[in-house]
Amino acid sequence: MSTHLRHLITLQHLDAATLQRLLDRAESLRDACAHGTRRLDLLRGRTVLNLFFEPSTRTRTSFELAARRLGMDVVNFDITSSSTSKGETLLDTLHTLEAMHLDALVVRHRESGTPDFLVRHAASAVSIINAGDGNHAHPTQGLLDALTVRQHRRRFDTLTATLCGDVLHSRVARSDVHALQTLGVRRLRLCGPPALLPAAADFPGCTLHDDFDAAIEGSDVVIMLRLQKERMVATLLPDEAAYFQRYGLTADRLRRAAPEALVLHPGPINRGIEIASEVADGPQSRILEQVANGVFVRMAVLADLLAR
Ligand code: NCD
Repeated sequence: MSTHLRHLITLQHLDAATLQRLLDRAESLRDACAHGTRRLDLLRGRTVLNLFFEPSTRTRTSFELAARRLGMDVVNFDITSSSTSKGETLLDTLHTLEAMHLDALVVRHRESGTPDFLVRHAASAVSIINAGDGNHAHPTQGLLDALTVRQHRRRFDTLTATLCGDVLHSRVARSDVHALQTLGVRRLRLCGPPALLPAAADFPGCTLHDDFDAAIEGSDVVIMLRLQKERMVATLLPDEAAYFQRYGLTADRLRRAAPEALVLHPGPINRGIEIASEVADGPQSRILEQVANGVFVRMAVLADLLAR
């Protein structure tokens, strides 16, 4: 049974039917836009505010495009340099924005838990959508990655997926794992240098690996993660050349994966550090499909949450 959503903070407790409903909706919106239609006007007259406390290229642009394609009014608010105390700024901002009768608030923040905090304090009927909080969750990325996989593979339960890189700091890894596990993937491998691997207890059902050559063996889906220097203490930072040597996705390494394995990366990519250019731009790369799917997934989420 799929559940009605008011907010989207994490994929963790959503059931498979709800995830499939969002993916189905993203696909039908993609079909609707395929015939040259750029505006659907499903949410005409509704307003969304993009509140980004952290830099973002893909996520912010695609939320904006998604909202415009649904006919919404969009306001963008980038406060990457805000230095005022968090609680006050956020609450003041929230109440100010509520007074403007917003329908949805898309928020990205470096601190895990910020979207939850807003949900707890939001008085009005505004829907809060998490666009990435700390290392906690990035639910629309999890959905768009699942959609990208679903587009190429009929079922999830036979797949082996490997996520490689800075798993410890990655909200993408958490949301990808939640989505893929709920949709049926049983073999999930998390790989990275030991210092960048999470505690096994944080990822039940996944196996942890520090040898990428072994972890990638037979994988149907390979998701590469960025080295998130902004979330690292300096001592964790590996030498980039040595890192690429052991954990970079090269064409040679990719040959160990299943034939025609799908290669994903949420971006921004560091070429020559996490992934070789020939792989990022190669025939197995789904990176630009992920970007395209991001718009449709965000349209689906807005349409779903704001449906009357
Ligand atoms: C990711 C993010 O910000 O969490 N990027 C994105 O949203 N496309 C991943 C990252 O920054 O490494």
